[in-house]
Amino acid sequence: MAGNITFSIIKPYAAKMGLIGPILALINEAGFKISAIKSEKLTFEQAEEFYNIHKSKPFYNDLVEFMSSGPIVAMILKKENAVEDFRELIGNTDPSKAEKGTIREKFADSLQKNAVHGSDCDENAIIESDFFFAKKERF
Ligand code: CMP
Repeated sequence: MAGNITFSIIKPYAAKMGLIGPILALINEAGFKISAIKSEKLTFEQAEEFYNIHKSKPFYNDLVEFMSSGPIVAMILKKENAVEDFRELIGNTDPSKAEKGTIREKFADSLQKNAVHGSDCDENAIIESDFFFAKKERF
């Protein structure tokens, strides 16, 4: 059975470009409830740990540098079938392949500066949520 939470990050470039409000509006309109939210700047080491799953990839170092380059917004989002519905809302990882109307099609700059992260499965949604949020920060 599909879980009812997903985890998302508004990435540094989108945050810097003033897109936090417009992205949150689309998330809200799509029926997601914000269960937890915070803004913080990751250290290089924290970004390394968060993206450990991509450690062997050629883009890993650039990804970690980028994700620790400025403030991000981390959130836990609630909705039935959250992981799948959120991935549909954000569109393809590569914005040039993202469907019209998706968050990445509207707001992403490139594959690296692709505006938002969304969990790829229920298990990772839980792992990623736990990485950022204590129980008392969730509602
Ligand atoms: P995200 O959903 O945050 O998960 C891992 C990130 O790595 C992904 O979004 C992209 O920003 C980035 N990424 C994935 N594939 C590539 C690639 N081929 N080159 C550069 N960055 C990539």
